[in-house]
Amino acid sequence: MSAPKKLFIKTYGCQMNVYDSERMAEALGSGGYVETKSPDDADMILLNTCHIREKAAEKVYSELGRFKGLKAAKPDLKIGVAGCVAQAEGQEIMRRQPLVDLVVGPQSYHRLPEMEAKAREGQKVLDTDFPDEDKFEKLKSRPIAKRGPTAFLTVQEGCDKFCAFCVVPYTRGAEVSRPVDRVLGEARDLVERGVREITLLGQNVNAYHGAGSDGSDCTLAQLIWELDKVDGLERIRFTTSHPNDMQDDLIEAHGRCSKLMPYLHLPVQAGSDKILKRMNRAHTSESYLRLIERIRAARPDILISGDFIVGFPEETEADFQATLDLVEEVKYGTAYSFKYSTRPGTPAAERPQVDPVEADDRLQRLQALLTKQQREIQDSMVGREVGVLFEKAGRFPGQMVGKSDYLHAVHVADCDRAIGDLARVRILSSGTNSLAAALID
Ligand code: 5AD
Ligand code: SF4
Repeated sequence: MSAPKKLFIKTYGCQMNVYDSERMAEALGSGGYVETKSPDDADMILLNTCHIREKAAEKVYSELGRFKGLKAAKPDLKIGVAGCVAQAEGQEIMRRQPLVDLVVGPQSYHRLPEMEAKAREGQKVLDTDFPDEDKFEKLKSRPIAKRGPTAFLTVQEGCDKFCAFCVVPYTRGAEVSRPVDRVLGEARDLVERGVREITLLGQNVNAYHGAGSDGSDCTLAQLIWELDKVDGLERIRFTTSHPNDMQDDLIEAHGRCSKLMPYLHLPVQAGSDKILKRMNRAHTSESYLRLIERIRAARPDILISGDFIVGFPEETEADFQATLDLVEEVKYGTAYSFKYSTRPGTPAAERPQVDPVEADDRLQRLQALLTKQQREIQDSMVGREVGVLFEKAGRFPGQMVGKSDYLHAVHVADCDRAIGDLARVRILSSGTNSLAAALID
């Protein structure tokens, strides 16, 4: 038997890309590939790319340039580009970087084995279709392999919201939800393989409306209640959500479903109604704040996370101040903030841009406030009792590391629990990026 071929995948961007990379590794695994952690001994290198901001997209080209030497030393090495840059700039990648053999969009990776075979024959292969067939179904016969205690599971893809800055509706296409039975089947399979916590993924996950077993549409909350019945599954999370799709039944599930963790990523992007309107967000800062109130009424301890863009076209200092005011009011447990990045083909790309030095300054001021809030909320955990799911051994003998219900990293000394165990712990202290805790018997 010949030695297995080696696959090196590098993943950029969001959690959905992490999930997609796993599935691509599995698809190529059935073609005889095993994963390697180094590009140096790989027979195939795949970059799973992100197109959301200009910097992320440019990284791909600089990374590809670095493989020149490897390819020269090993002409059999195949190099592929997957993900959202592949979708958006497929032809351009082939033109700009001749060492690329294969380009595969996010909707086509179930076809990777055939594409790889063609590349081995010396062809250049490009597939950025939005095919009719269900890629998840095609990828169904996966090997039963043990897994860590947490997993991502894509339930919804694409976005119909068309925020004026965002490429997602173009790269990932229209909203599509997977049927409930398929999600449940995959969840049960993951649990059998050792998974205790599942994060349901979708670009607009709370707009989920997959077909139920009787054919009728099922909401994300209904899907969560179905998953709640899966024995051995202990924790459910979901990301990313749009405020306008935060329906009553989902808010209620946060109050009543004990497996649904008290953490919600709910991007608002900006605090000025003028900017929100120009962003085509279709909500106001006031409606967002009232929504947060309702969510907190259902689940008072919920940790809120957000995304922000500063320096969106025509944002004034007063508009930016409205973002700071909104942040002050919400109090975010964690947040991601970005300087606006012009994305060709999106409506905002044509509008008057904010001075980049000013935008940098705003980003720094926003991040200082968000970091302060994050720290305060993390520090407020000290003395509290929380659940922890252990994910790995710590740096010190006897230490275990896991995530709290609120997604804080927690380490426990003298811990007799195993990876995959859930425990109640008392938080003892708060460090820069993690909490120290002791088991409660
Ligand atoms: N510029 C800056 N940030 C962006 N995001 C999306 N598009 C852009 C852009 N053009 C941010 C938003 C989104 C997150 C995933 O990335 O905050 O919620
Ligand atoms: Fe992009 Fe999210 Fe807006 Fe959809 S809802 S367009 S994915 S920012």
